[in-house]
Amino acid sequence: MELSQVINSRRSVRQYKSQPVEDEKIWEIIEAGQRAPTSRNSQNWYCILLRNPQILNQLEEAFAKQQWIVRAPAIMVVCGTNNRTMMCGQAANPIDCSIALTLMMLKATELGLGTCWLGMFDAGKIRELLDIPAADMIVAVTPLGYAGEEPQERPRKDLAEFVRYID
Ligand SMILES: Cc1cc2nc3c(=O)[nH]c(=O)nc-3n(C[C@H](O)[C@H](O)[C@H](O)COP(=O)(O)O)c2cc1C
Repeated sequence: MELSQVINSRRSVRQYKSQPVEDEKIWEIIEAGQRAPTSRNSQNWYCILLRNPQILNQLEEAFAKQQWIVRAPAIMVVCGTNNRTMMCGQAANPIDCSIALTLMMLKATELGLGTCWLGMFDAGKIRELLDIPAADMIVAVTPLGYAGEEPQERPRKDLAEFVRYID
C-alpha cells in the first residue's frame, strides 16, 4: 500500500472481530513506533499490550461508556517516561508518545488492522490495574484488531483552513 493510501484509508474503528492479531504484525507495528522521532532522541516511551480477556474485562471500568473497547482482541496503552519540558514550553512526553502511536496506527492500517485513538479513559484506574509507575505518563490508548465495521470517512475542514501563509 502506498503511504497516501494508508493515510487516506485509516479510520477510527469502534467494532472489532474476535480474531486475534498475529504476533508478527504486532512486532511490525512496534517497529514503526521505534522509527518515530523523539525529543533529543530520548525514545522514552513504551507500550503495554493487553490480550488476556480477563485483564481486558477488568479494564471495563476505565472506559466508562465506551465498553466496545474491551471487546477488541488487543488494547495498546502508550506511556511516556520523559518528563522533560522542552525549550518551547511543551512537555516532551505527550508529543513523543503521540508521534510514535500515530506511526503505529498507520502501520496497523497498512497491515489491515483497525485502531482508534482514545482520550476518554480513566488514567488512574488504568494505572492501578496495570501497575504503571506514578512517574510514567499514560498518554493514549488504542484498541487493536481486525475491523468488524467499515467506518465512513469523517468530514474534514477545507484545506485552506489548516494553513496561514506569511509570504
Ligand atoms: C486525541 C484524540 C482523542 C480521541 N478520543 C476518542 C475517544 O475517547 N473515543 C472515541 O471513540 N474516539 C476518540 N478519538 C477518535 C476521533 O473521534 C476521530 O479521530 C475523529 O472523529 C476522526 O475520525 P477518523 O479517525 O475515523 O478519521 C480520539 C482522537 C484523538 C486524536
